[in-house]
Amino acid sequence: MHTFKGRDLITLAELAPEELAHVLDVAETPPAEWPRFDGMSAALIFMKPSLRTRVSFEVGCAQLGVHPIVMGPYDAFSRHETVHDTIKVLERYVELIVLRTFEHSHIEEVAEHASVPVINALTDDYHPCQGLADLLTIRQHKGALAGLTLAYVGDGNNMAHTYLLAGALAGMHVRVATPAGYEASEAALAQARELALRHGTGSTFTVLRDPAEAVAGVDVVVTDTWASMGQEEEHARRLYDFADYTVDDALFARADAEAIFMHCLPAHRGEEVTDSVIDSARSVVFDEAENRLHAQRAWMSLVL
Ligand code: CP
Ligand code: NVA
Repeated sequence: MHTFKGRDLITLAELAPEELAHVLDVAETPPAEWPRFDGMSAALIFMKPSLRTRVSFEVGCAQLGVHPIVMGPYDAFSRHETVHDTIKVLERYVELIVLRTFEHSHIEEVAEHASVPVINALTDDYHPCQGLADLLTIRQHKGALAGLTLAYVGDGNNMAHTYLLAGALAGMHVRVATPAGYEASEAALAQARELALRHGTGSTFTVLRDPAEAVAGVDVVVTDTWASMGQEEEHARRLYDFADYTVDDALFARADAEAIFMHCLPAHRGEEVTDSVIDSARSVVFDEAENRLHAQRAWMSLVL
């Protein structure tokens, strides 16, 4: 295991399986043992909207004694200031940079210039903080991760990519079912296969079209919005293209009898999931939301 101090969290691929397990263990540290970083500050930059990520990072910072400074597109990367100059200024003030943005290359550029740790709070391609929280949630509900099968049904988006990488590190089997034209990226799939091979985790990855085939017998059923942030104008088209991909009672019933339902939220009830599934006893979506706080506090405490 390498030291965590100063490290970035950009996709999850930068973690080894034992490091991932360690982060999840640290996330369960009782409050009396949380370290303090009094006098440190963190820049939390949101180029897109956020409820969970913003609040959980702000609260997590407060729990560690870190002063959080929340900024929007009006504050950072505005007025034609370059990424380089923005970061060189920020790192004179803060010990940590958290960024939610559009193009994944934006956060890669930020990380390249930053001498302080950078955390990806979601890009168009990856959402590693959600990945950590989701693995923690699955581990809490299922007792372990290795050998479980997770089915992701819906858009081959940042969450689909995140489950591929998270599953690869955790020794899980990941099935991804999407409509034609909405597949997960080949790059994420190739990286998941490479990670599983490199770390010998035994994970497998299956790309499917049929949601019913994808969820058959699985331990975890996951979905996400059909139109992500930045794709709002495609919403009507996507409602049509994803019509057969709603996680409803009939689909969820095909999973294992003890299967849990997950969704990173915000959910669009009646679209990607029905009320009956998201409100069912086997839905763990609010544990999942809570675990954003614990996973991110763990990561911040390790890198600071
Ligand atoms: N799941 C998640 O990242 O939620 P927000 O977009 O509200 O931060
Ligand atoms: N795929 C969604 C996730 C939101 C947390 C989006 O990018 O909007």
